[in-house]
Amino acid sequence: MIVPIVQQDDGTFVTGYLGNRQMLKNDQERQAMEKTIRNSGYYPYLTDKSGMEKLDSDTKFRDELFSKLMADGVKRWITIAEERLKGLKVKCYISPGNDDRFEIDESLKSSSTVICPEDQVVSIDDHHEMITSGWANQTPWNSPRETTEEKLAEIFNQMISKVQHMENCIFGLHVPPHNTPIDLAPELDATLKPVTSGGGGVVMIHVGSHAVRQVIEENKPLLGIHGHIHESNGFVKIGRTLCINPGSEYGAGLLRGAVINLDPKGIKSYQLTQG
Ligand SMILES: [Fe+2]
Repeated sequence: MIVPIVQQDDGTFVTGYLGNRQMLKNDQERQAMEKTIRNSGYYPYLTDKSGMEKLDSDTKFRDELFSKLMADGVKRWITIAEERLKGLKVKCYISPGNDDRFEIDESLKSSSTVICPEDQVVSIDDHHEMITSGWANQTPWNSPRETTEEKLAEIFNQMISKVQHMENCIFGLHVPPHNTPIDLAPELDATLKPVTSGGGGVVMIHVGSHAVRQVIEENKPLLGIHGHIHESNGFVKIGRTLCINPGSEYGAGLLRGAVINLDPKGIKSYQLTQG
């Protein structure tokens, strides 16, 4: 989402972040707000009153701006990664998710430090291969990278057919496997509002991918690393395969992750992190 910050005639700024009209007195407050907006996963956009009118009325402009801000955001993260990983023997893989427009792939692939493994089989060390896909099964949000379960299976199998040692392979598939503790999300009604039960609690349903589950059951890789369903952090075993979803709470300023220690024979340890 684009969050405009509109410069006023007196040099102050106004933004409607989180639905509240907020006044920012100077550049310092504006920059702090931009950081807050970015850390929430949104895109701050500094403009003035006439720019705001254009944003309101010109759909094509707004759409192109959204793609540009998204690609610029990724470039900013890549620059940070390049600065901090310089000279270190750390491999950094970043792949898109279903909400990411295709414009960001170019930014991801332009880096000499960050590796974009999307749609490929990569060897992360001498013992482990990894397949990666940011594509998802259909969602209510009509995001850029979602498709049918059949097509998903096709995308995954095209990589799986090239894996040499499946027993040590990592499946980096954005969507978690269907019908697991890591694919539960609120059920939504026709207006996209969460359905509540008689007691007032939100009704949770399994929304993961059947294709993801199927390729894991069929191929029995070492590890599945997933995301997509922010509400369902955790891990589950499907046969011998450990599947992990760190979940996400970036909207609350929390970064969630997983630290997984691999050795040549398997998974030495794993831990979900938050900070
Ligand atoms: Fe997603």
